Amino acid sequence: MATTETSPATAAKSTSSQGSLEIRDTRTGKSYNVPVATEGVEGDTFVKAMELRPIKQSDDEFGLLSYDPAFMNTASCKSAITFIDGDKGILRYRGYPIEQLAEGATFLEVAWLLRKGELPSAPEYKQFVHDVTYHTYVHKNIERFLEGFRYDAHPMSMLLSSVGALSSFYPQAHRISDPEQRNIEIIRLIAKVPTIAAFILRHMRGLPFVYPDNDLSYTENFLSMCFRMTEPRYKASETFKRALDILFILHADHEQNASTSAVRAIGSTQVDPYSAIAGGIAALFGPLHGGANEQVLVMLNQIGTKSKVNQFVDDVKSGKGKLMGFGHRVYKNYDPRARIVKKLADQVLAETGSDEDLEIAMELEKIALSDEYFVKRKLYPNVDFYTGLIYRAMGFPTEYFTVLFAIARTAGWLSQWEEMLLDKDQKIARPRQIYIGPGERKYNSKLNGK
Ligand code: SDX
Repeated sequence: MATTETSPATAAKSTSSQGSLEIRDTRTGKSYNVPVATEGVEGDTFVKAMELRPIKQSDDEFGLLSYDPAFMNTASCKSAITFIDGDKGILRYRGYPIEQLAEGATFLEVAWLLRKGELPSAPEYKQFVHDVTYHTYVHKNIERFLEGFRYDAHPMSMLLSSVGALSSFYPQAHRISDPEQRNIEIIRLIAKVPTIAAFILRHMRGLPFVYPDNDLSYTENFLSMCFRMTEPRYKASETFKRALDILFILHADHEQNASTSAVRAIGSTQVDPYSAIAGGIAALFGPLHGGANEQVLVMLNQIGTKSKVNQFVDDVKSGKGKLMGFGHRVYKNYDPRARIVKKLADQVLAETGSDEDLEIAMELEKIALSDEYFVKRKLYPNVDFYTGLIYRAMGFPTEYFTVLFAIARTAGWLSQWEEMLLDKDQKIARPRQIYIGPGERKYNSKLNGK
């Protein structure tokens, strides 16, 4: 699988072993020595699951498996891209704290950082922006493909289908071990996903497609393709432009979340990147993952007024549904992205006028952060809790919010995809299982029965 280049992951600090586990199998009386390894600047410690395989009662046994549904305690890869400390609420891209990147970087600067491992120099950045800018057009047939959808088709269905269809326009994209080919496909995807996303919004609204404007920045060009009407050149609000660029930065990567794991597993079969990213979009669509930002607005609308928040919280605590936008598999503290988004919401809504949903959201947060049910389960606002309020204030429909998440996460998915391809430890993803079905039995059809 791996090609000749060395990915930043394998170039990271080498493994140092610090002791071992002594496993005594009381079934056989045998003892096993399993080395404990420590790796990376954060000192992650692990044992290799394959070290369990020799533990068996007899030679004809398969050997000991580790059972870990939903991978609650399984590292599927080594990665140098994103670091999260869920207890401390830390998120860093290639070592840079998310707060600093949100403050000073542009989304394309972060997209480069995620993939290359270092911030771009001025000439590198200029060339990258040029390359992305001049790959924003999509084949006319994609427009016709989109016109085949009903106007009220879910935009995430349209996005995952269209991005998957892109692979048919670039048959050479399957040459994934060719660095030059990978490079152009990565640029094409970062450039074309916003164009397709904007075309989808126009299709939903029955408006003509607006083509890319190469004189605009990445984010302003996306807003132009979404909202330009008859004016010769679209002028985005400075607040919206900066807020959306920051939101793209916040959503760009998040280590081995469900959609990234899906992209890695699909990519491990050596399929082209368009197909792998389409799989990531499909995973992100789920309401427990990227679809949560849409569900937060649905929830706020269901609550209706601030006065009904307490009743809603009581319903959640009695098991009637979830507090969407709260909780996280990794963060057992405030999601650092949610803090930044909340500040952005204040800025954007100051320009567009606050709305009652923000009041309801803030009341929900206030109650949840002091309520034992949520505190005990370490449920804090995650990145999705406030983003929907900003997107709606910018004029995006609720069902479109996850498309915005996908535009940003495309940069992270591609960086993780390439890191997987270059990682010498990796091969086609194929987990084992614990078989709990029936033992062998004789086929005796029931079709002739009465
Ligand atoms: C994203 O992985 C990532 O990094 C994802 C992401 C990224 O950038 O890629 O950060 C983006 O997907 C953010 C998460 C968006 N999803 C939501 O906001 C949906 C609501 N949240 C939950 O569904 C839940 O918190 C998850 C899915 C996010 C995490 O689920 P876990 O880790 O599997 O936790 P769990 O479901 O086992 O919950 C533990 C307990 C349970 O209670 P008990 O059974 O112990 O009594 O907490 C409860 C859950 O019922 N719980 C909630 C809750 N989330 C968990 N109860 C009410 N409301 C919630 N939101």
